[in-house]
Amino acid sequence: MQVIRSIPQMLAVQYTPAAQVGFVPTMGYLHDGHLSLVDAARRDCDVVVVSIFVNPAQFGPSEDLQSYPRDMDRDLSLLQKHHVDYAFLPDAEDMYPEGYATWVEVSGLSDLLCGASRPNHFKGVCTVVLKLINIVHPHCMYMGEKDFQQYFILRKMAEDLNLNLRVLSCPIIREEDGLAKSSRNSYLDSQQRQQASCLYQALRNSRQMVKAGECDAAKIIAAAEAILISNNAKVDYIQIVNSTNLMPVDSIDENSRMLIAAWIGKPRLIDNMLLKA
Ligand code: PAF
Repeated sequence: MQVIRSIPQMLAVQYTPAAQVGFVPTMGYLHDGHLSLVDAARRDCDVVVVSIFVNPAQFGPSEDLQSYPRDMDRDLSLLQKHHVDYAFLPDAEDMYPEGYATWVEVSGLSDLLCGASRPNHFKGVCTVVLKLINIVHPHCMYMGEKDFQQYFILRKMAEDLNLNLRVLSCPIIREEDGLAKSSRNSYLDSQQRQQASCLYQALRNSRQMVKAGECDAAKIIAAAEAILISNNAKVDYIQIVNSTNLMPVDSIDENSRMLIAAWIGKPRLIDNMLLKA
């Protein structure tokens, strides 16, 4: 595996002609969710590139940029074990030099759901991911379904900007109790860690309600909210949306997906599930 820290050096990489390049953008502190994306890229593509960059532009002023978990040595050894070809680790000063002024925004979609409580978050995500795509030149990019809105927005960006790129999603990888794997789970103390599986419980309960014939989105959301509240979670949002456009729905069909964001103490967790799978 080649570790590349400079943008000009990454830009200068000459892939074998006709090689399919798979790309997994990450902020590091890798877990099995990230590694499932790397494995999918390895399975599908000739060359696998993984970036590790904690992107300041997607953190709000009161968010966890400074404390975001980092362990570069462990990350690099995991990437090596998963047969990655290039690990790209740019510096913030090189990605956003003084005078940096260009931003990418998928309007509308970026204000919904997580965008409502994290203004500018998706602008930061789209900007950094487009920059990384321009530097890495991948054919396929792999995203985790846990960040469903992020995946959706990046797919829209790729389509709207005619990027010659397939944006692919991979299923959520969960802990034994259902908690979706996330770097931010490391913030949870042991009591919060136990409470945290309530997001999954709420999603599963919603799916069971649908299986039992309930179609009324408001009733399903109310039951999910009760589960979160009884576990001391503070709800940011619980919404059931159409997976094909992220718009809220009143009645359940094959495309209905519940998305949840909630604080368990200080950490804010997200999760989602198709309700009629
Ligand atoms: O999902 C993440 O880890 C980040 O939002 C991403 C896509 C790497 C952009 O910084």
